[in-house]
Amino acid sequence: MALIEAGSGCTTPGQEAAIERMVRLFYERGLRDDVLGPIFRAAIHDWEPHIAIVADFWSGAVHGTGRYRGNAFAPHARLDFGPEAFERWLAAFESAARDALAAPDADVAIRVARHMAQSFRAGIFPFTGKDGRPSRTP
Ligand code: HEM
Repeated sequence: MALIEAGSGCTTPGQEAAIERMVRLFYERGLRDDVLGPIFRAAIHDWEPHIAIVADFWSGAVHGTGRYRGNAFAPHARLDFGPEAFERWLAAFESAARDALAAPDADVAIRVARHMAQSFRAGIFPFTGKDGRPSRTP
């Protein structure tokens, strides 16, 4: 099974509503997190269009609808945050996915999220710093 676009390409209104619920719940929880909250507030000003884009992304990743046509990695490379943000991001995402999606859909979303978080982390922090932590620069 492909990692991304694993689904049938068809969704019910209920499945789309669940995806949107997940994205809203994720940002509700993320905004309360002391690491993620400031990152989100500094970068996201126009919330409804952003939520629609991220819902398109997850509709594609979970159900194969192919609605997201952007480059998900690019904006992250421009953001200023440390590697520890990924643990917070995954914790907020996984709890939102479990609470909003049907169990099999949550399993797919979490699998994709873990894989992409790992790839983003390696892409943004390709070096090891003097302190042994992942670093943006050699
Ligand atoms: C440390 C972890 C992460 C942080 C702090 C973070 C934060 C953000 C922020 C602030 C934006 C808005 C950027 C902008 O519009 O300029 C964004 C966009 C987005 N993020 Fe993340 N993100 C993280 C990880 C991830 C991961 C692992 C995924 C995918 C599984 C993801 C998927 C997306 C998508 C699809 C967008 C929309 C991109 C677009 O506008 O086309 N993010 N993220």
